[in-house]
Amino acid sequence: MSMDANEVAADGDATTLGETLALKNLQFKSLTLRNFLSYRDATIELGDFVALVGPNSSGKSNAVAAIKLLRDIPTHGLPNAVRRRGGYDQLRHRSEGRPYEPSLRLEFQFGSAEVSHYELKLGSVAGKRYEVKRESAHVYFGREEWGFESDGTRVEVHSPEEERPVPVAPGQSALSTGSLTAFLVQRVLQSLQAVEINPSSVADLQEPSSTRQFEPDGSNVTSVFESLTAARRTELVDQLAAIVPGIARIELRNLADRQTLAFYQATESKDRMFLAKQMSDGTLRSFGILLAMLQPASPSLIVIEEPEIAIHVGAMTTLVDILQQQANVSQVLITTHSADIVNALPIEDLRVVWTENGESRLAPVSDHTRDVVRRGLMTPGELLRADSLDPAL
Ligand SMILES: Nc1ncnc2c1ncn2[C@@H]1O[C@H](COP(=O)(O)OP(=O)(O)OP(=O)(O)O)[C@@H](O)[C@H]1O
Ligand SMILES: [Mg+2]
Repeated sequence: MSMDANEVAADGDATTLGETLALKNLQFKSLTLRNFLSYRDATIELGDFVALVGPNSSGKSNAVAAIKLLRDIPTHGLPNAVRRRGGYDQLRHRSEGRPYEPSLRLEFQFGSAEVSHYELKLGSVAGKRYEVKRESAHVYFGREEWGFESDGTRVEVHSPEEERPVPVAPGQSALSTGSLTAFLVQRVLQSLQAVEINPSSVADLQEPSSTRQFEPDGSNVTSVFESLTAARRTELVDQLAAIVPGIARIELRNLADRQTLAFYQATESKDRMFLAKQMSDGTLRSFGILLAMLQPASPSLIVIEEPEIAIHVGAMTTLVDILQQQANVSQVLITTHSADIVNALPIEDLRVVWTENGESRLAPVSDHTRDVVRRGLMTPGELLRADSLDPAL
């Protein structure tokens, strides 16, 4: 287990199991979707900031669905994770010809170690049920290489601790078999988070909860807000005020055994207080997104679908500033239809999504289009409006 004294890891690398479990210097590299929803075979290269752009129904949310599925496996178990995405039959790619077997492969890296991966392939059994065809992980940290291989019935673990094959129940993930390697991969998958704020969940009276991890719909904002340090709360209020004019203060309110948030909004003469229920949808949605980014249990990759929804166009550059600031803390993936957002991003951050023969395709922007932008002939937002953001093929 110990590192050879002559081998020196790069500065800041996770070299011990403890540091690795704390996800020190974890970077998601890519996500490959095969026969998954509208994708036949596509790879999203991830970076500090990535924005998926493309027409309605091109496959942006389907790519996000893959991330949600991966995140849900350790949280809810594979059968529930599949059910939450509409069931196996809905997940597999449908097109002419034989039915296809969906698979996902997530690549990630700890510091400068070799690139790690987790891969899951499902297959059909009678009825509309599925089986795990193959599941594998290889995790590299420091000089270590840990992993497992499963054929859906038996898991072979390769780590210093565990060498004996363990059985896995039909339809279950090898991640539930309790090995340290599985635990490590669970941690990695749980550090993915897709935020889908539901303003009415934010507005509803909430039960105080002990989980500090942000619920994707915003249904535990009071507990997460309560767990913020004073400095974080101030940061949150400042960011929200940059989007929603007049927000001056936010406080937690206990109403009997429930909680809600009180928003103080400045007018010319005095501050007026409104409970979350009385705040606008756009305010609640922005608040939820900002809180998701500032939560203490910060995800390593945060996904936000169409962050522009319900936000005034005048606040769009502020929103992009905040998202880009977040990209220094975690990786950020967004989907967007906003020309203003696209204009504010470096063109390298864009991934074009489009449909070809009933199949979603995804690629960075072509060199030719980058050149057009570099020479100032058109802005990325103008190209988006004209449906002329050409993908690199
Ligand atoms: N199992 C499947 N096999 C093949 N295609 C599918 C499958 N499930 C969904 N689709 C296609 O994917 C489309 C939905 O794609 P998605 O929700 O990712 O679009 P989007 O790019 O997010 O669009 P919008 O901008 O409107 O949100 C459906 O309209 C359908 O055409
Ligand atoms: Mg969508």
